[in-house]
Amino acid sequence: MIKLAPSLLAADFSQLGKDVKIVCDAGADFLHIDVMDGHFVPNISYGACVVKSLNNITTVPYDIHLMIANPDLYLKEFVTDKTAYITVHQEACAHLNRTINNIKEMGIKAGVSINPATPVSTLSEVLDLVDLVLVMSVNPGFGGQSFIENSLDKVKELKRIREEKGLEFKIEIDGGVNLDNISRVKAAGVDIAVAGSAVFKAKDIRKRIIDLKNA
Ligand code: DX5
Ligand code: ZN
Repeated sequence: MIKLAPSLLAADFSQLGKDVKIVCDAGADFLHIDVMDGHFVPNISYGACVVKSLNNITTVPYDIHLMIANPDLYLKEFVTDKTAYITVHQEACAHLNRTINNIKEMGIKAGVSINPATPVSTLSEVLDLVDLVLVMSVNPGFGGQSFIENSLDKVKELKRIREEKGLEFKIEIDGGVNLDNISRVKAAGVDIAVAGSAVFKAKDIRKRIIDLKNA
């Protein structure tokens, strides 16, 4: 079964703890935490202090998506007992191999993400190192954008390479995932789907999580 990671970016920030509790109780597998710096992406979201404030509330692990320049400077701040994955962008790392190793040395699973315009081939030298590849299906920076259909070709390509080389990384997709495309997302071979608006803008968040997972 596909795992679902609700993106907190679409939650009600005035009652973040309450929204986190709702999605945890409804069967979310991870909390997807979008960290934006106004530099790598044209938006600013929240940082490590907000993440830590949820540590006693969440019952599911964090899937931290760093959309920031110089992620090495901040990796440590996102290590908590709830942190499962820390994902950095290929486009933001001049020394990607080193950054991935830095994450793993802290005992955290390492992910790498590619923007819609970045081909899978740019990851050829790190696929044997990473625990997760995050395929962006929108240009990062904002929630509520439309799903870029070509991203499913990248998912299929990653799945093929994983099989051919006997690798074990998980494949995650992020951006514009909703009830209309979740079946295609699953069919392409995604292991973890991120969904922000589709979850938090639903009238019944609980039902929406169940519907997305069972679609
Ligand atoms: C975009 C973020 C996504 C986004 C998903 O930069 O990485 O996680 O919040 O939101 P939706 O599902 O609304 O596209
Ligand atoms: Zn994200």
